[in-house]
Amino acid sequence: MRPVLWGRDGEQATMHQLLAEAREGASVVLVLRGDPGIGKTALLDYAASAADGMRVLRGAFGLGPAAGDRFLVSLGVLSLLSELAEEGGLLCLVDEAHWLDHASADALLIAARRLDADGVALLFAARDPGFPAPGLPEYRLGGLLPADAAKLLDATAGELPVGLRHRVLGEADGNPLALIELSDLRTSRGSAGAPGPLAEVEGGGNSGSASSACGVARRGPPGT
Ligand SMILES: Nc1ncnc2c1ncn2[C@@H]1O[C@H](COP(=O)(O)OP(=O)(O)O)[C@@H](O)[C@H]1O
Ligand SMILES: [Mg+2]
Repeated sequence: MRPVLWGRDGEQATMHQLLAEAREGASVVLVLRGDPGIGKTALLDYAASAADGMRVLRGAFGLGPAAGDRFLVSLGVLSLLSELAEEGGLLCLVDEAHWLDHASADALLIAARRLDADGVALLFAARDPGFPAPGLPEYRLGGLLPADAAKLLDATAGELPVGLRHRVLGEADGNPLALIELSDLRTSRGSAGAPGPLAEVEGGGNSGSASSACGVARRGPPGT
């Protein structure tokens, strides 16, 4: 079952578009960036759930410091990806890319830049700072707009006292994880909410348009 994502219509449409392009034999790369809890992994999960008919490759990309010459390694990665993409395309998800060791990150980035008409959709998710990816298209996930944050809160926390609801929405500032955890924290404490910093939940969202289209690198689409 697909997870319900509030306020990410534009991003979800972008995921479908990337998948469609990969299915048709193009290769697409996108680096998702954003604060902890803003919904990067949720969006990768969404892409995986929408990748009908495609292979999905996820996780375990640590090649280790002894991986050898990064160009050779990247060539190996490239040929592996294009082989896996045969028959229907491949969705390759690299979450928490900021934790990759240098050798693995380098090899993946070189491979990402060289993808051609392979039918690969390669999506990275990373926090700032970390995982610099010059030359690759990036999309920054912002906080949810207030109306969407309110829907998420109502769907997860049910009915909250008006004051508490207002405070949670304010403190979370559109960060989904903060919305979920703050409401949990406050309701499980059974109080009308002693003031507490959002930092308790790690990371704060920044508001902004959550529905602008992502910029994406496309290479080698067939027939264009
Ligand atoms: N748009 C959204 N609607 C509903 N829940 C969301 C949304 N975005 C994120 N979440 C939930 O918020 C939590 C944090 O999201 P996650 O994707 O793990 O953040 P990140 O990977 O950016 O740290 C998860 O429980 C996730 O399911
Ligand atoms: Mg994550």
